[in-house]
Amino acid sequence: MNKTCKTFKRPKAIYLLVIFLVSVIFFGYNNYKNSHKRTIIYVPFSHPPFNTTPLYPYHIEERSKCIGRPPFLVLLIPSLPEDVVIRDTIRKTWANESLVPGISINRLFLLGMPSNNQTQMAVEQESSVFHDIIQQDFLDTYNNLTLKTLMGIEWVSRICPQVKYVMKVDSDMFFNPWFLVRHILEPGKPDKLGFFTGLLVKGSRPRRDKGSKWYISKLQYPKSVYPPYCSGTGYVFSGELSPIIYKEAMEINMFPYEDVFIGMCLDRIGVELSKPAGNWFEGEWIQYDRCQFAKLVTVHHYSSEDLLTLWPDFLKAVEQC
Ligand SMILES: *[C@@H]1O[C@H](CO)[C@@H](O)[C@H](O)[C@H]1NC(C)=O
Ligand SMILES: *[C@@H]1O[C@H](CO)[C@@H](O)[C@H](O)[C@H]1NC(C)=O
Ligand SMILES: *[C@@H]1O[C@H](CO)[C@@H](O)[C@H](O)[C@H]1NC(C)=O
Repeated sequence: MNKTCKTFKRPKAIYLLVIFLVSVIFFGYNNYKNSHKRTIIYVPFSHPPFNTTPLYPYHIEERSKCIGRPPFLVLLIPSLPEDVVIRDTIRKTWANESLVPGISINRLFLLGMPSNNQTQMAVEQESSVFHDIIQQDFLDTYNNLTLKTLMGIEWVSRICPQVKYVMKVDSDMFFNPWFLVRHILEPGKPDKLGFFTGLLVKGSRPRRDKGSKWYISKLQYPKSVYPPYCSGTGYVFSGELSPIIYKEAMEINMFPYEDVFIGMCLDRIGVELSKPAGNWFEGEWIQYDRCQFAKLVTVHHYSSEDLLTLWPDFLKAVEQC
């Protein structure tokens, strides 16, 4: 009896020693690994409130758009001053502010300055009718798109700080506000804080060939990989992030691709991008299908004509899919 006990005890002690050593090595390695990872985590409300200052003076500001009634969702839609027809279509289709019953949505088109005086007069006229345009005094060019996004985020931070969520969506998109509100933002549930989602892009690299339209010099961006970001075609985030993103943006060099730039800010703040549970944000064009489109948020490349054609059919999706 005694003998068998003894012979079993020794190997047990050895097993324990081995397990102990393996654990020490494993945890040591993990600690080492983690020390090389980013360790800042965004903690909502740990940031003191601060005021934002616009980068350029506003021509059209819509200061009273939010007074007394903070909306659930603000839609920020970059638009060219001359794209009157596209804005008109978007107002009648996916950015109609009263589409989702019981949910207040504010639509804002983001404009820079046109080079032509007549276009500017038309913009001011249009703005006086719809009050859904904001415009700052920078030239409206492709390479100034980052300034447009920052204008929108600055506006939200200062004029509409109580908004629950902000969605930036391009004007050449199909967008489904019902799915976004009901299945992602879920108004009945506690507010999501530090939330940011969209079409995730990971491991994207700056183009170093000088001939490329997307060329980025090492001076503009020295690292070989961009931080993760959400494609600028459509992304959504919690409103309380707005002033924090804006403040961070003021501290780093401007970058021409607004989506990558916002990714850089989020990386510095320590916000983790949420991975959508399905293909809710489509980066490529897909053929319109009523019930398929009812279960996603955005699809890329939908022209004004396409939207006007499919919209009456899509309205049926709300009841039938
Ligand atoms: C916006 O949607 C509401 C509710 O569906 C509808 O009554 C209204 O006509 C729409 N407005 C426009 C400009 O299409
Ligand atoms: C456009 O031209 C009109 C008349 O020439 C002038 O009154 C107005 O200030 C100009 N507007 C802009 C935005 O330059
Ligand atoms: C952006 O806007 C500013 C201010 O109007 C202008 O000076 C600059 O040339 C624009 N940048 C680009 C790249 O178009």
